[in-house]
Amino acid sequence: MDKTIINDAVEFVRNTFKDDHSGHDYFHTLRVYKMATRIAEQENASLMIVQLAALLHDVDDIKLSPETHANKDRAVAFLREHSISEAMIKTICDIIGEVSFRGTDSIMPKTIEGRCVQDADRLDAIGAIGIARAFAYGGSHNRIIHDPEIKPTVNMNANEYQNRTSTTINHFYEKLFQLRDLMNTTTAKKIAEQREDYMKNYISEFLDEWDGIR
Ligand code: ADP
Ligand code: NI
Repeated sequence: MDKTIINDAVEFVRNTFKDDHSGHDYFHTLRVYKMATRIAEQENASLMIVQLAALLHDVDDIKLSPETHANKDRAVAFLREHSISEAMIKTICDIIGEVSFRGTDSIMPKTIEGRCVQDADRLDAIGAIGIARAFAYGGSHNRIIHDPEIKPTVNMNANEYQNRTSTTINHFYEKLFQLRDLMNTTTAKKIAEQREDYMKNYISEFLDEWDGIR
């Protein structure tokens, strides 16, 4: 496999995310790349497609780059510069388009490669790292940590989910606790189980402290 293009893609994302502190940073992408590789090896998926899609999955993210989001201009430009075939570019762009959580409108990717990347991205939203990212996101979007009066809403569709302003604790119920059951691969399901248990313990400790029980 061509290591040069992967190394170039790592450099490209390092530059793209250098000023982002909202949870969509370079290290998120690097973790997704490593986890997607680990899952792809277990699932016998094409490593080249998985690794490129993982590395490029957030470069045209709507929050980071609204003007290039629709056509994934940054990802496409990178891939064309590296002489990737138009067919493979389409496969990679389809994977990137399918990856995001959209409440009840979330999609199971068509290809095994897409399923590996989606699982890796979702695994990075849960567990110890997921907790840190949720509070970093909440802080950077001026969300409050918790308000017992604001109840979580589950089973939202894409539109409701995107337009909701909720607390960060509610985000655990509105998205993070749903991810385990949405994992596509058995490899990711196993990792998700352990990470979800950890988050559940964390939330239960949090709520006990909130209520003055501990
Ligand atoms: P993804 O990489 O899955 O597309 P998002 O862009 O939805 O992730 O979010 C980036 C990170 O911020 C994730 O860890 C996610 O759980 C967290 N996050 C997204 N929305 C919220 C929210 N409303 N409150 C707290 N954390 C959030
Ligand atoms: Ni991501």
